Amino acid sequence: MKNYFNLLNFREKLQELQTCHIIKNLTINSLKILKNKKIVIIGCGSQGYHQGLNLRDSGLDVSYAFRQSSIQKQTRSWKNAKKSNFFVGTFEELIPNADLVINLTPDKNHAIVVKSLQNLMKKNSFLGYSHGFHIVESNVVIRSDITVIMVAPKCPGTEVRAEFLKGFGVPSLIAVHQKNDIYQKGLNIAKAWAVGLGSHKAGVLRSSFSAEVKSDLMGEQTILCGFLQTCSLACYEHLISKGYDVKYSISLIQYGWEKLSEVLKIGGITLLFHRLSNSAQIRAYQLSQKLKKILYPLFSAHMDNILSGIFSRDLIKDWENNDHNLLLWRDMYKKEDFEIANNVPVDLLKENEYFEKCTLMVAMLKAGIELSFEIMVSSGILEESAYFESLHELPLIANTIARKRLYEMNQVISDTAEYGNYLFTNSALPIVKNFLKTIENSDLGESIYTMSINNKKLNFLHSNIENHPIEKIGKKLRSYMYSMKKKYN
Ligand SMILES: NC(=O)c1ccc[n+]([C@@H]2O[C@H](COP(=O)([O-])OP(=O)(O)OC[C@H]3O[C@@H](n4cnc5c(N)ncnc54)[C@H](OP(=O)(O)O)[C@@H]3O)[C@@H](O)[C@H]2O)c1
Repeated sequence: MKNYFNLLNFREKLQELQTCHIIKNLTINSLKILKNKKIVIIGCGSQGYHQGLNLRDSGLDVSYAFRQSSIQKQTRSWKNAKKSNFFVGTFEELIPNADLVINLTPDKNHAIVVKSLQNLMKKNSFLGYSHGFHIVESNVVIRSDITVIMVAPKCPGTEVRAEFLKGFGVPSLIAVHQKNDIYQKGLNIAKAWAVGLGSHKAGVLRSSFSAEVKSDLMGEQTILCGFLQTCSLACYEHLISKGYDVKYSISLIQYGWEKLSEVLKIGGITLLFHRLSNSAQIRAYQLSQKLKKILYPLFSAHMDNILSGIFSRDLIKDWENNDHNLLLWRDMYKKEDFEIANNVPVDLLKENEYFEKCTLMVAMLKAGIELSFEIMVSSGILEESAYFESLHELPLIANTIARKRLYEMNQVISDTAEYGNYLFTNSALPIVKNFLKTIENSDLGESIYTMSINNKKLNFLHSNIENHPIEKIGKKLRSYMYSMKKKYN
């Protein structure tokens, strides 16, 4: 498979994977370089629409270029751009005058979009991406005078906007494509774009195209989307089989992930465990160790296929086959009982009930987060990247499940993430369902019985959790984010 990453030698691969550090002291001043510059966004969907709104509110000049066919059909995204009073036009009208063209179309269309852009972009302009799949997983050559940059917000576009409106932001990875930065100006433009989104208030990490792609694919396929999806389906089926009613079962899962993962934002897995009774902590720990053992081969296989390019080869084949598998799986999972059960518009439980009755779900979160983090790190990805892709983004995805279950999650994530998470679910669901045959009634749906506590065991598990590398790096990165939050509040 000829792609950019595979053509690098071992040391170059490692160097790219290990590019990741927080950019400190990024302020609104960094935005200046984009003031009075023309920014044209292509794609007014999940990322495109919301990023455009943030950039405009930050005082930048944003317009949208559409295909002629989209304008004629008046597609939903064209209507959104018009309704929000953006200047819109065709590629031919807008691209030749743009200083920064941001490509926020679905990954599968990047080859065709970028091909037509290259003929129209002005000399020495900038081309931006929010995911580096096209650059890393193909062997595309971009005109040498064009500087290629990336700002990848670590969440769906809806959350990019929602956090901005709260006066804050979401963390973003930024990168410059080594092959396309002849004037060495890419980094400052990427910083300005990230500041325009509000990401300087939450954390901007300098990354590389390769590190972003390989860690992003791993996170979204496993813990962030695939594992949450698998566990939602398996837990729901389990609860119904145990005689719980639909409303209760839906409520527990639909809102449970959100309630449990909110805690992670503040204090990681350590705090999540502290919210449980001592008995539940011991049980959740045991369950998570078992889950890690049985799921390790599957999580590793996903990382291996992502690194080797097997995943992207198969995904590209599916694009060429008119999304055959994506559409088949989308249709199949849409019909799952969890998805078609009656709507439960508000959570019926009190907050503490989630911590009392979801011991298994806590174990699932711990197992999935630690596995994806450990496997990424053992593959050469730095802990900072692995933390964002396995733990930090999780509450932002859980929020989408709380809104309209898996339908909402799959709607707002990218098509690439959606394909990857079905692929993971196909293999993970039988494993997790099988595991659920072995659990106790008190693991899900009811409070755990109080057992006599072995202090040594409790002490061991606390120190084990607290000393896990994800907890250490998480503490450091979160303390940095809090100080930024204080500064901006
Ligand atoms: N969604 C996420 O959570 C997320 C998070 C981080 C990064 N990203 C990255 O952000 C990028 C955009 O993803 P997304 O999920 O926001 O995409 P999306 O919502 O599926 O994008 C749809 C938009 O792209 C336009 N479009 C599609 N094909 C086009 C073409 N050939 N020429 C011009 N416009 C075209 C559509 O226009 P019409 O409606 O007019 O057809 C529509 O405005 C991807 O690289 C993705 O990996 C996404």
